[in-house]
Amino acid sequence: MSEQLKTVEGILAQAKTAAGEGADTLAIATARKAFRPEEAEVKPHLGKVAIVTGAAGGIGRATAERLHADGAVVVGMDVNPAITENLNSPGLSGVVCDITDQEAFQKAVENVAEQFGGIDIIVANAGIFKAGEYIEDLGHMWDLHLKINLTATAHFMKYSIPFLKQGFYPSVIIVGSRNFSAPGPGAAAYSVTKAGVTQLARVAALELAEDGVRVNTLHPDAVFDTEIWTQEALEKSAKRYGMTVDEYKTKNLLKTEIKSTDIARLISSMSGPVFRATTGAQIPIDGGNDRVI
Ligand SMILES: NC(=O)c1ccc[n+]([C@@H]2O[C@H](COP(=O)([O-])OP(=O)(O)OC[C@H]3O[C@@H](n4cnc5c(N)ncnc54)[C@H](O)[C@@H]3O)[C@@H](O)[C@H]2O)c1
Repeated sequence: MSEQLKTVEGILAQAKTAAGEGADTLAIATARKAFRPEEAEVKPHLGKVAIVTGAAGGIGRATAERLHADGAVVVGMDVNPAITENLNSPGLSGVVCDITDQEAFQKAVENVAEQFGGIDIIVANAGIFKAGEYIEDLGHMWDLHLKINLTATAHFMKYSIPFLKQGFYPSVIIVGSRNFSAPGPGAAAYSVTKAGVTQLARVAALELAEDGVRVNTLHPDAVFDTEIWTQEALEKSAKRYGMTVDEYKTKNLLKTEIKSTDIARLISSMSGPVFRATTGAQIPIDGGNDRVI
């Protein structure tokens, strides 16, 4: 294999030549499919282009870094401007984008395809979690959860699908939550959106299988090295269970602490050849939970 085909830039250059002068982004993405690097077995995502939302910190940042380490060119998107500093190395960059702004989000997705020649992996990870709002007191949190966690995920798919259909072993990953199968009181908005994205993923798996696009969901729980969990929230939750914070952190069947990097590794595997024949699946990553099992 030529040296040129070992980089995303090299693959893009070949695809542009093959597509011909004046070809549009989608035509180039289609041509690019012919130049999948053979060495991809060594690094499962070599030559692939990935987008991860909510990648300024927590699970999203760890995922962007993992996919990049596994060979992909990765663009993270986040409303938090820290993303541009946090993801800033060759082949790993961050773009400020509010995913509830449809026009800006679509443009940002299309820019990635234009810049790197296509899109192979998308990880719908951005999300918010605000608990303590009971149904009889539902306020603006309902709409906000729906907009960020659910509707923007559907838009993310919509904008990416034309490119994913032309991708290398394309994969869509949805970050769900243990809350989907084991909801708690005071978290209706969050739980409903996580149920929503899970169902969205199942329908997408049905719709996209004939184009070879796999769509899978993972359900994390209790990942404390993230911004979603403040020290105050952690202490409050631990107290509710009559536990110390350390006990609470490993309150699962395996008594293990789950880190962002654990979730990131699973996402990279689910996007790669290990899960080549899996679509429409849901995988818990929660240390084992008796309400889920
Ligand atoms: N941490 C956990 O225990 C846990 C458990 C289950 C599921 N999850 C899910 O994991 C995902 C990642 O969360 P995390 O735990 O890493 O928390 P986090 O708060 O560190 O990450 C979420 C990211 O989404 C970004 N975001 C929020 N609104 C946005 C918008 N409108 N546009 C663009 N970006 C936006 C935030 O700025 C943040 O960087 C979420 O979907 C969450 O529901 C987390």
